[in-house]
Amino acid sequence: MDLNAWFAGNPNLPPALLGSCLLALLAALLFAVSLRSSRAEKGEIRTLQWYKTGFPLLGPPAEFQKAPEELLLKARKQLGNVFGLNLLAKRFVFVLGPDAHRWFFNADDGTSASELSFEKAIEALTRHLFGAGLYRFTAWNEKARKLIITGLASAPRLAYYTTVIQSHVERSLAGWAQKGTLDLFRECSRVTMGMMIACLLGDDVNERFPELADLYYEYERMAALPAVAQFLWFPSAVARRFKRIKGRIVEILETVIRERYADLEGHSGRQDYLQFVLNDTPGFPEAMSLHFLTILFAAHINTVSTMAWTIAHIASDEALQRAVRSEVRSEGDPFRAAARAPELAAAGIAIAANKGELPLLDKCMRETHRLYGALFFVREVQRPTSFDGIPLPKGTTVAFSPFVMHRDESVYEKASTFNPHRFSKPALEELTTKRQYVPFGSGRHACQGQRLVTIVLRLVWTTLFREYDVSVEINELPAPEYAGALGIPQPKSPVFARVRRREGA
Ligand code: HEM
Repeated sequence: MDLNAWFAGNPNLPPALLGSCLLALLAALLFAVSLRSSRAEKGEIRTLQWYKTGFPLLGPPAEFQKAPEELLLKARKQLGNVFGLNLLAKRFVFVLGPDAHRWFFNADDGTSASELSFEKAIEALTRHLFGAGLYRFTAWNEKARKLIITGLASAPRLAYYTTVIQSHVERSLAGWAQKGTLDLFRECSRVTMGMMIACLLGDDVNERFPELADLYYEYERMAALPAVAQFLWFPSAVARRFKRIKGRIVEILETVIRERYADLEGHSGRQDYLQFVLNDTPGFPEAMSLHFLTILFAAHINTVSTMAWTIAHIASDEALQRAVRSEVRSEGDPFRAAARAPELAAAGIAIAANKGELPLLDKCMRETHRLYGALFFVREVQRPTSFDGIPLPKGTTVAFSPFVMHRDESVYEKASTFNPHRFSKPALEELTTKRQYVPFGSGRHACQGQRLVTIVLRLVWTTLFREYDVSVEINELPAPEYAGALGIPQPKSPVFARVRRREGA
């Protein structure tokens, strides 16, 4: 109805009625507006905004290849907490912020009714690394979860691993001191894998196959190269080299596992994780080498850079190194020199659970995890759903970025600066409650190696700063290289360090 014409055609309309009409009109307008905004609040239906550059189609993949971290920060600034990213080879829908955190980590509860699937997304993203069908041994998958939880994270197992780690730390750091100058990230990879191989497969495997630790370094470094991640089918030199490296790792794992199966009884007294698995569940020989290939990969991918960045920051800041040194030499340090393996394991478990005040070294670890957070984690939509009003069809790959969350200036002042003092027990509790800090994931797929790795890192750092002086040969640490990083990134250029045993240590 044309209201102007209607009023014009009724010049004698009483003013009270006119007022009521206007009021009714206003009310209707307000109702319509409130309906719209409550829909937006409930996020009923919105259109996904795709990240765009001046060069359609090729622009986003090119930018991502060059500096993915800058792209993500820019896209969030332009498009908010939900946006699409088309990389041609793969499309992602990024969901960011605390609400996304809650949904992303809890929407896979392990049932077929879950909205999101961790396994499907990981399977699709790592096909070139682990082959098709990472979770194809369905009967084994649930057993494997339980075995990992008890076998890697229970107190008695951790006490055993701690003795193994202790003996490795002593030897490795003495080796560092003999080397003079060393490539810090490369050496941290050797130390990490030496310890992980000893805990998971036995130290004899390190002796028989000394190349295994180094092979993992190459395996991770090559994993995200386009020639590997997207064109592994093409017989390039890079693809062939990657296949050789992976083939050799698998060959070693299969040899070790075959020998164990051949004499289960004879090996039953061993204490490594492989033997723990075989003593408990010997029935899955076909799944075993893939199980170890992936766990050793998970053990390498973030541990090495956490260890090395933390050492690099402490070594490049004299005052910080002095404070750390005095702390690790004090009687009150949970990793003090005289402590025995079960006590150290208990201290590691307590640190991982954020019990007790945070010693400086642990603040440094938390800050390394914040500053160098992984670029993104992935899940696949299992049944049509929506987030923040944006429909997400089945098969969509959803990504959540710890990096973006950890660099949010409204939460972390001077977010690009390494400042361990921003962490304390209450600060960490608040960040965790507000879902603004996520180094080890959360929910069903949270890191199952967190306790073990806390002990590994703490033993390495504590021994290093208690007994050695460490310096780096540069004034300013290089920036992290996020292009091609699968977890916590390595630096853009090598960091060389010198390690000297302290007088009287
Ligand atoms: C500082 C070192 C480490 C960090 C920061 C880290 C971080 C993470 C994160 C964030 C996730 C979850 C990813 C997601 O939700 O998509 C994860 C999963 C996992 N991590 Fe770690 N991790 C570390 C070391 C380790 C180690 C040493 C092991 C084993 C020895 C390990 C074993 C695993 C496994 C098996 C999963 C998969 C859990 C599942 O399938 O449900 N991690 N890790």
